[in-house]
Amino acid sequence: MKNKGLKLWDRAMKAIPGGNGLLSKRPDRYAPDIWPTYFSKAKGIKVWDLEDNEYTDMAQMGIGTCILGYGDDYVDSQVIDAVKTGVSCTLNPPEEVLLAEELLKLNPFASGVRFARTGGEAMAMAVRIARTHSKKDVVAFSGYHGWSDWYLATNLKGDNKLSQHLLPGLSPNGVPKGLEGTARPFLYNNVEDLHNVISDEVGTIIIEGARYDFPKPEFLEAIQKIAKEKGILIIVDEITSGWRMTDGGVFKLNGLKPDIVVYGKALGNGYAISAILGTKEVMDSSQDSFISSTFFTERVGFVAALATLKRMQETKIWVQLNSIGTIIGDKWLELSKKHGLNLSVTDYKPLITFKLDHGDQNQKLITLFTQEMLKKKYLAASSIYLTLCHTEDVLDEYFSACDTVFETMAKAIKEDTLDSLLETAPREDGFKRLN
Ligand SMILES: Cc1ncc(COP(=O)(O)O)c(C=O)c1O
Repeated sequence: MKNKGLKLWDRAMKAIPGGNGLLSKRPDRYAPDIWPTYFSKAKGIKVWDLEDNEYTDMAQMGIGTCILGYGDDYVDSQVIDAVKTGVSCTLNPPEEVLLAEELLKLNPFASGVRFARTGGEAMAMAVRIARTHSKKDVVAFSGYHGWSDWYLATNLKGDNKLSQHLLPGLSPNGVPKGLEGTARPFLYNNVEDLHNVISDEVGTIIIEGARYDFPKPEFLEAIQKIAKEKGILIIVDEITSGWRMTDGGVFKLNGLKPDIVVYGKALGNGYAISAILGTKEVMDSSQDSFISSTFFTERVGFVAALATLKRMQETKIWVQLNSIGTIIGDKWLELSKKHGLNLSVTDYKPLITFKLDHGDQNQKLITLFTQEMLKKKYLAASSIYLTLCHTEDVLDEYFSACDTVFETMAKAIKEDTLDSLLETAPREDGFKRLN
């Protein structure tokens, strides 16, 4: 018997190709036949599904957006005030200027900001600005940067190179063939691979601030050196990493000198806002290209971001995210040793992630983890986007649930009962067409 959420998902699949607008919220990413899929309410780290079951979110937290927890009272109260005074108008909202000034203070290398709403859109804008400025089409990049043509063009050659950059299975269908060769991927932290893709045609290098690992000093030095020698622009995509290590992007900690930095996700604590910051010369190039959209100037995003920045700074949120992430990573390791699971954890603590090493059983084991944690009223996956509401006092109960479920997982491997224990089809890791 399907839960209410999955019944709605069936209707969604009839009305919305692919079911929704974001891969990471599809039930097949978790436990396809049992995942609650839709929420009726969310507050702090609590989530209620359509049947009013209450869960603790030890998983995606709005896919990294709600860094202060769901429905932060201060941010929401500022947004509600803005809603009451009007969000879209013939005139501009003053908060656009206030937010620009705040972000420039936090990023002294920069002297210009443009705003967008989503991460992929902000990265498309950043690439447009960089191409306008460098007058070169070719972009070398590492990591995931959204759904735009510039990025998916990587796969036009048919060798599925993006599979090494977070999401396997991304098809370049619909991307003009003329873009072939304009985006060259290189592996994160791999200096040799970086050198392999650099030529005089490259005008821009893009990396993520951090994902599962931090960039190594030799990798950053190589990027900086190549950029200087060849006059290449550096873009750091801090859409997922922003405010998780410091007050802004990870680049502020490692000495990299970018020309453009992009923020999104956590910046509005769930309200849509993204920002592209850069040096004066580079950002001025945005005026030589047409970059303009009605909702780039809508008020809620700016108000939410100003309020979120204030809360993140007052609480120094990144300190807590790191200390809780370290505790969780250490405990996962301890419990996996206790039960005999082959598990490692990532260095990057605020998006703490475990990786299993059980060959072709990995996806099924993670699905079993999600399935058994659901029974204990957790939304749980192998990654946790930590938030201000993930405090130490929620950990004991979570660890005791992990203890039992890791034991079940280890037993399933030893006794070869994984398939019979699964009450759902296994999760899917990458993108695929849903019928
Ligand atoms: C590093 C990075 N860049 C870009 C994006 C795309 O952002 P959005 O999903 O808001 O379009 C993401 C989303 O996960 C991301 O993690």
